[in-house]
Amino acid sequence: MKITKIKHIGVFTSGGDSPGMNAALYAIAKASEKNGIKVSGFRKGYEGLIDGDFLPLKSHDLQKLVHLGGTILKTARSKRFMELEGRKKALQTLRTNKIDALIAIGGDGTFKGLLAFSEICDIPFIGIPGTIDNDLAGTDYTLGFDSAVNTAIENIDKIRDTAESHNRVFIVEVMGRDSGYIGIHSGLTTGADAILIPESGKDLINLLEKVKNYDSEDAFLIVVSEGDEIGTDLVASKIKEVNPNVDLRITRLGYVQRGGNPSALDRMLGIRLGVASLKALSEGKKNAMVGLLNNQVYLTPFNQVVKQHQIKDELNRLLELFSK
Ligand code: F6P
Repeated sequence: MKITKIKHIGVFTSGGDSPGMNAALYAIAKASEKNGIKVSGFRKGYEGLIDGDFLPLKSHDLQKLVHLGGTILKTARSKRFMELEGRKKALQTLRTNKIDALIAIGGDGTFKGLLAFSEICDIPFIGIPGTIDNDLAGTDYTLGFDSAVNTAIENIDKIRDTAESHNRVFIVEVMGRDSGYIGIHSGLTTGADAILIPESGKDLINLLEKVKNYDSEDAFLIVVSEGDEIGTDLVASKIKEVNPNVDLRITRLGYVQRGGNPSALDRMLGIRLGVASLKALSEGKKNAMVGLLNNQVYLTPFNQVVKQHQIKDELNRLLELFSK
């Protein structure tokens, strides 16, 4: 890989933090140094671009931080960047500091921001998918998803211990915004009795059918994605309607799913996509996200990425099989 034209890259993390972001920063710094390119890391996502708040990134410093969750650059959901005024200030920052290319690590909001920015700024932008939700088209997995699922599994396993001891019904709510990926993966791998996700219309019917005949001789675990259209509290009251005797508890796993050391998969994904983002720039690519599809690096234009990642047919069949 040889990059001749680009001399100075800006990079930032944006939206919800996700484990593996630091590994991607390390890989970007490493690959850039090999090509004699300077890398500046903007703090707090688009906010740092607007305010000109950045620091030099060196692979020597970052290699010690690969194992850390969160993002050392900090992150934000910037309201100011949604306004043209904010984007003009960001453009000024790039011009003043002679930044030739931008790499953004984030989710769909981040890439929508870059699409809007591309209307007034013509330097190349490359995105790296970073969100625990796994809700982006153009990649099989996003950075942080695997770690979040592992955290969810660890906690659901613990809940099973107490649920089995008391013969209780437990609803465990997992994150994912409008996506059921964390729900499906954590529910299937913990032997949940029911999994409710936003993408499925039949899951509540299946659950109520099952719980109606539940005899309190065992635990009954239900994983509900936070974006499910019925919602955790309503699911609980529907269960009580069909089986008033159940001893029911609710646990919302919440932000523990966002933190913690990245899994091996997320670290490798960060390293691979970090290097791939440099390769894409070297090939003159712009306004696209690097992702892994069938374990190969692919570039997908931002306007296609922001369409929700569909639940694969095979996963839907698994959900159906294990929900009955
Ligand atoms: O997008 C990641 C995520 O953790 C979602 O799963 C969740 O709905 C959302 O972020 C919470 O966002 P915030 O921390 O901004 O409230």
